[in-house]
Amino acid sequence: MTTTSTTSVRVFANSDLVSAGLDTFIEQQSQEAINARGVFNVAVSGGSLPKILSKHLVNNPHIAFDKWHIFFADERCVPLSHPDSNYLELRKELLDRLPLSRQPHVHTMNQQHIHAPATAAADYQQQLHDHFKGVVPEFDVILLGMGPDGHCCSLFPGHSLLNEHHLYVASIGDSPKPPSKRITFTLPIIHRARKNVFVATGQGKQEMLFNILHRPEMKLPCQLVGPAIWFVDQTAAALLPSSPSSTPSSFNTPKL
Ligand code: 6PG
Repeated sequence: MTTTSTTSVRVFANSDLVSAGLDTFIEQQSQEAINARGVFNVAVSGGSLPKILSKHLVNNPHIAFDKWHIFFADERCVPLSHPDSNYLELRKELLDRLPLSRQPHVHTMNQQHIHAPATAAADYQQQLHDHFKGVVPEFDVILLGMGPDGHCCSLFPGHSLLNEHHLYVASIGDSPKPPSKRITFTLPIIHRARKNVFVATGQGKQEMLFNILHRPEMKLPCQLVGPAIWFVDQTAAALLPSSPSSTPSSFNTPKL
């Protein structure tokens, strides 16, 4: 595993600057991965993430999107055209705004299995297996959101999926965040990523961001991810001690 050994927090004045910071970071990670291995393997979550991620990225002429392989860190068991689909959100925010010649390779949940989440998860794991040629999937970057209860992907506090040690993709039929049926990356694949990146903005994230960074004993899903890079705005960071007032800035926190 090549993740950094500490968690770092990058604080930006507002959500637009978080998007700009992410754009710079992703450009660099993409370039490094493509130089080293010819492709950039990235996984994205749902919620507010696709929009924040894409805002500046979509206009970045230096990114070789055609060398990207995009997977979904979690996906809701709905048709790809359904408003709840994480794919649809990414499509609206990014894919539809890129010309055909720059389209990334996008790996979606097999639509045949939307009514059978366990089969959909097994199929998605097979897609990963095929793409990574049988070796354990090692993403260059996994992009994660933080739920108000400290969940990430579709891994919820106290849920038995947090104890999954073998599957890389699992199904969940009782997600407290609707819709209830989903597939999700599990901790083993998240732990293999070169970089795990969280994005959290707005007042609704303040308290949980503090808990995650300063109350490790809570053992929330976001904490179980391990070392990560956090991109946050000043509003979300307001309760953090020594939250800097200049922009952008970053500080390291001890390993969670
Ligand atoms: C999903 C997610 C989920 C999300 C968080 C944060 O598909 O529901 O992947 O983990 O990222 O709930 O969502 P917000 O950014 O919208 O708060």
